[in-house]
Amino acid sequence: MANTILVGAQWGDEGKGKIIDVLTEQADVVVRTQGGNNAGHTVHIGGQKYVLHLVPSGILRKKKVCVIANGVVVDPVSLVKEIEGLSKLGIKTIGSLFLSETAHLVLPYHRELDSQREILKGKNKIGTTKRGIGPAYGDKAARTGLRVLDLINPERFKKQLAWKLKENNEILKAFGAKPLSFKQVHGAYREAGDFLKPYVTNTVILLHEALRRGDDILFEGAQGTFLDIDHGTYPFVTSSNTTAGGACTGSGVAPHRMDRVVGVMKAYTTRVGEGPLPTENAEIADMLHAMGREFGATTGRPRRCGWFDSVATRHACMVNGIDELAVTNLDGLDTVAAIRVCIGYRADGKQFDYVPNDIEILGRCQPVYAEFPGWETPTHDARKWNDLPARARSYLKAIAELTGARLTIASVGPGREQTIFV
Ligand code: IMP
Ligand code: MG
Repeated sequence: MANTILVGAQWGDEGKGKIIDVLTEQADVVVRTQGGNNAGHTVHIGGQKYVLHLVPSGILRKKKVCVIANGVVVDPVSLVKEIEGLSKLGIKTIGSLFLSETAHLVLPYHRELDSQREILKGKNKIGTTKRGIGPAYGDKAARTGLRVLDLINPERFKKQLAWKLKENNEILKAFGAKPLSFKQVHGAYREAGDFLKPYVTNTVILLHEALRRGDDILFEGAQGTFLDIDHGTYPFVTSSNTTAGGACTGSGVAPHRMDRVVGVMKAYTTRVGEGPLPTENAEIADMLHAMGREFGATTGRPRRCGWFDSVATRHACMVNGIDELAVTNLDGLDTVAAIRVCIGYRADGKQFDYVPNDIEILGRCQPVYAEFPGWETPTHDARKWNDLPARARSYLKAIAELTGARLTIASVGPGREQTIFV
């Protein structure tokens, strides 16, 4: 299978968790390289549902090495909870899960600052997951962050945390929020540090040893292209590079060692949180929500929904270098009589065939639609390309062609078996 970067081609929640789980069968090592526990990857195996936030989805298969690499921001207390949850389900992590020494920490003041900034922004809020992701990456860039190697060094952690809390408590007081207690934070995080210590290692060395052995590595992206801090709809983005390059900087594996990029996208569009979404449509949102679909895996929020946007996915293809496409949630459109696909935008008397950078312009963009006849047949039992209705096949071919990449996977439901290799 070679070394694969998997990215979301839309606004996150493209169904990456399931595709990662499927591709992991052929991988030896699975790596998370960016984001934090803002991510929620849902995987269904034999009637059991797993929601993973920080631990790579590879953990659900035996004998896979799973790595939380340097580019991730880690809330140690939340990671411990996730590991304990997996352990209750009979999933072993020790010896298969590895945590980078240089990953930055998310601490309670990051979460508190995330919430306070959102409150202050009022109706201009980003709609973050309030997991402290932005402030944690902010500290990293400002060179004032604490890292995993600080957490597992008790003396150093104590000193650094005392200083950080002093500074952040002043800021929290200025927001009118309650300051945090050193004793409480220190106690909880030191305990998590002791728990996590056996997982901590130099993951750059580990990954390069794997490369020398000829192992196949899967880099699992979190969030999606339009939430990328550089290429997304700034400021309505997350704080990491969710695009393919983030897999290199976030892991220490060089670009020329990567063999392919797989882009995952839904057969329609969704977004959680605020910010422009040109193809947003109330009717399709009501339909999907009534089916019990499209509620956030991390926050439970109903996702905003719209038609497939090929202007956006073509852009995603370009900035990620997507070679292969996996289209998920095809079955979400099973009951639609006439399916629309956005093939261009119109705003201010101009036509756009790319995503404008100015989100005020993007916010004014009216989609230009092409219409496809729906198949109006359930697809969730399809296992092969030819099991799909002819109209579903035409639709898939059309959106892949508009996106400009090769369709290799279509998914018709959450189960591992509901996967069609094209
Ligand atoms: P943050 O990452 O919590 O700072 O949130 C910033 C924006 O990214 C918000 O619009 C979130 O809803 C969105 N976001 C963050 N993580 C995910 C994800 O895993 N899936 C979908 N949206 C996400
Ligand atoms: Mg998700």
